Amino acid sequence: MSNTSDTRLVDLDEDGVDRAFRADVLAGLKQAQKAVPARWFYDERGSQLFEDITQVEEYYPTRAETEILRSRGGEFAEMIGAGRAVVEFGSGSSVKTPLLLSAIEPGAYVPLDISGEFLRAAAADLSAKFPGLPVHPVEADFTKRVDLPDAVVDMPKLGFFPGSTIGNMVPRTATDLLRSMRETLGDEALLLIGMDLIKSRKVLEAAYDDAAGVTADFNLNLLTRINRELGGDIPVQSFRHEARWSDTFARIEMHLVATEDVQFTVSGERFTMAAGESIHTENSHKFGKRSGNMLLLAGHWTPVARWTDEQERFSLVLAKATIKRSAP
Ligand code: TRP
Repeated sequence: MSNTSDTRLVDLDEDGVDRAFRADVLAGLKQAQKAVPARWFYDERGSQLFEDITQVEEYYPTRAETEILRSRGGEFAEMIGAGRAVVEFGSGSSVKTPLLLSAIEPGAYVPLDISGEFLRAAAADLSAKFPGLPVHPVEADFTKRVDLPDAVVDMPKLGFFPGSTIGNMVPRTATDLLRSMRETLGDEALLLIGMDLIKSRKVLEAAYDDAAGVTADFNLNLLTRINRELGGDIPVQSFRHEARWSDTFARIEMHLVATEDVQFTVSGERFTMAAGESIHTENSHKFGKRSGNMLLLAGHWTPVARWTDEQERFSLVLAKATIKRSAP
C-alpha cells in the first residue's frame, strides 16, 4: 500500500526514536497553525484504519474510481494501446491494478514504492494473477526521477497514479511530483491519474468524517503514536477529529481540535493549546475539470481524455507527456 511507511529506512537515535518523526512533530507544533505531515499517520494501526476507511459507506472515492476502471476497459484499451510498461506510483491495490492490467494488454508491470515489503507483496500477488506478465518492482522514492529497469527502458510507458493521492499534496508539491513522473516516464509516455471532484460540502465532509468514526480514529491515532514513540503525554480524550471544507483551497482539511485548554509535553518540550485551537494533519484537494487540467499542464502533462463515474463524483484523466517546443 502506498500510504504505508512503517518499513521505510529509518534513522533512529540512541533511544530508538525516529529522528525525522521527532523533528517533524516538534517543528510542526511550534507553528502558529500547528501541523504534522500526513505521512506519520501510517504506523501499523494507522495503516489498518486507512484500509478500513476505504470500506466505509460515506467514503465514495475508492468505489467511484473502481466503477470507472470496471466500466471503461474498452476505451482504455483503445486509447492506450497494447505493449506499454505500466509504471504504478505506489505499490498498487489488489482491486484497481488488475482491472487496468486486464483491460490493456500491457508489456510489463513496474510498481514503484518506498516500502520494499509492500512492494514485494504486491508484485507477488500481481505475478500470480497475470502469469505471462513481466513484473519488475522498484524500491524507490518516486518524488524524484527514478531509473527504470533495463527490461522496460525501450517500451512506451503508462504511468498509473490512482486514488487521488495527487490531491493530498499542495499545488507546488503536486506540480513537482508530476514533473518528476514526466522525467521518469519519458517523451512517449501516457499517465492515467485519479482526481477526486469538487461536490457538495455535505458529501465531502461526510466522506472524511464517517458516522462510525473510523476516520476520526485514524486521525486521533496520530496523537497516540506521538505519545508512544516520542514520549508524549498529549491528552488524546481532549481532542476531536474535524473534517473542514476550505473553499479557497478547494480541499478537505483534517484537523485535531482541542476541546478544552490543554498543555502537554513531547520529547521533553512543552506545548499549550487553547480550546478550539487545532493541529492540521491532512489535505485532500478536489478538482474541477479545468483546475485538474491546469494542474496537469503545470506538471508537463497534456490531458487527452477524461472519464467519471455515473454520479460524477470522481475522475480518471489520461494525459500525454508534454513535448517541449517553442510556443506563444
Ligand atoms: N487520497 C485519498 C483521499 O484524499 C486517500 C487518503 C489519503 C485519505 N489520506 C487520507 C482518506 C486521510 C481519508 C483520510 O481521499
